[in-house]
Amino acid sequence: MQPIKAYAVAFRLWTPAASVPYERSTRRLNSVTIESKLIPFMDAISPSSGPAISLSQVNLSLGRGAARVHILKDIDLHIGRGEAIGLVGPSGSGKSTLLMVMAGLERSDSGSIVVADEELTKLDEDALARFRGRNVGIVFQSFHLIPTMTAIENVAVPLELAGIPDAFERARRELDGVGLGERLSHYPAQLSGGEQQRVALARAMAPGPSILVADEPTGNLDENTGRQVIDLLFKGHVERGTTLILVTHDQALAARCGRVVRLRSGRIETADQRAAVGA
Ligand SMILES: Nc1ncnc2c1ncn2[C@@H]1O[C@H](COP(=O)(O)OP(=O)(O)O)[C@@H](O)[C@H]1O
Ligand SMILES: [Mg+2]
Repeated sequence: MQPIKAYAVAFRLWTPAASVPYERSTRRLNSVTIESKLIPFMDAISPSSGPAISLSQVNLSLGRGAARVHILKDIDLHIGRGEAIGLVGPSGSGKSTLLMVMAGLERSDSGSIVVADEELTKLDEDALARFRGRNVGIVFQSFHLIPTMTAIENVAVPLELAGIPDAFERARRELDGVGLGERLSHYPAQLSGGEQQRVALARAMAPGPSILVADEPTGNLDENTGRQVIDLLFKGHVERGTTLILVTHDQALAARCGRVVRLRSGRIETADQRAAVGA
């Protein structure tokens, strides 16, 4: 298969795979075109000093008729560049939905969503896809690697699709950075859960996003393995100045973040809206 054709196939696989926890957005993700990913390489951390993420009066309902659920209610949340936020709350409180809204994977019904200086509510689907490629790295609880691609391909192919030069060299460096320099040619099935999540982390960080969102990234890992992944997540956050939003059930882990935001029934219960760290 010609390389570009192989990547097109991989991309089609990769995009829906990445959307698995986000069924609501599958249609939108499927509609992302290859062209829309051919973006110039990231100027991830913008020199402007506004907040990394600013949500004002965000409301979101999903479902139809009697099954319609008001999920996010009057969300006001301002996150400074380089901050680490622990997002906690009971199951069903809206944590994953809030992450999706911040990542440009879900649209709100009302309110303003400014992320990395872009008002997401004003972007069309292609612009949103470009925004995600430039600005947001996402890590899921269940890894979502492409099973038919090796570790290095899982990291490099999205970079190539984004038009980033030296994608494989960059992917190799990223995998080295998460301790998988010896596992480049392994397929996901040949890797442990912790190793798969480290590949997923390398994939999320490789484009140099200014924002990293992680939805219970250790939920499928044992305690020790989970700690390794979290240490790498925080290392990326600190060394690259990446804004980190971490959804977790683990209070101790949430406490490692500079600030804890608690959701209950779609509302923010506690959120210290203090000024941005380093802003
Ligand atoms: N497509 C949908 N239609 C209706 N309700 C939904 C849909 N998706 C999620 N919900 C509901 O939204 C609420 C929040 O879900 P979610 O953001 O996944 O919560 P959390 O991540 O905190 O567990 C839940 O009550 C869930 O059942
Ligand atoms: Mg969730």
